Amino acid sequence: MTLRLGDIAPDFQQDSTAGTIHFHDWASDSWVVLFSHPKDFTPVCTTELGEVSRLKPEFDKRNVKAMGLSVDPIEDHHRWVGDIEETQGVGLNFPLLADSDRKVSNLYDMIHPNANDTLTVRSVFIIDPNKKIRLIITYPASTGRNFDEILRVIDSLQLTDGYKVATPVNWKDGDDVIIVPSLSNDDAKKIFPNGWDEKKPYLRVTKQPNK
Ligand code: BEZ
Repeated sequence: MTLRLGDIAPDFQQDSTAGTIHFHDWASDSWVVLFSHPKDFTPVCTTELGEVSRLKPEFDKRNVKAMGLSVDPIEDHHRWVGDIEETQGVGLNFPLLADSDRKVSNLYDMIHPNANDTLTVRSVFIIDPNKKIRLIITYPASTGRNFDEILRVIDSLQLTDGYKVATPVNWKDGDDVIIVPSLSNDDAKKIFPNGWDEKKPYLRVTKQPNK
């Protein structure tokens, strides 16, 4: 199934290290980061699962739940969880789906046959509380993800959902932002009383409004 930004994230029921997951119920009114791994007992995935566990306070602060997926059976997942704790110094603190029947992988198009016809690639989906898909990134199996970047995008999405701004290249929380071009200067004056730096009529830079 091809999924695009703005689509409703497909619902599913699947086994996980935290028991059976009914996805939409589990997500409830949180944001979700759903990400897939090529295989259990692989080195890069082991480091990623440790890092996402370490970042739990950052996800919690942003009302985000993490969920991993690998196409191996639940018994393997439970054994792998022990290795993650031993080697990464942190216990897995979010569900890892056991997608051995490929139900979720197929729903979310996480198997790319010309890369590998059985293993999932490293997909990342950010899903908002309305269950809309807001980001899709696909990484190759050999490249571990940068979860600071995922948090950065969540910061941008949560900010730009609440204010008429967009975030420029390499933006980080607290940096200056851009007033959306669709907002006229007259309307912008009401929303941004401290003004902005107009580099071009379409490039108006202002302080981050919620800081
Ligand atoms: C890994 O997670 O280490 C990995 C998985 C598949 C291919 C290459 C590396």
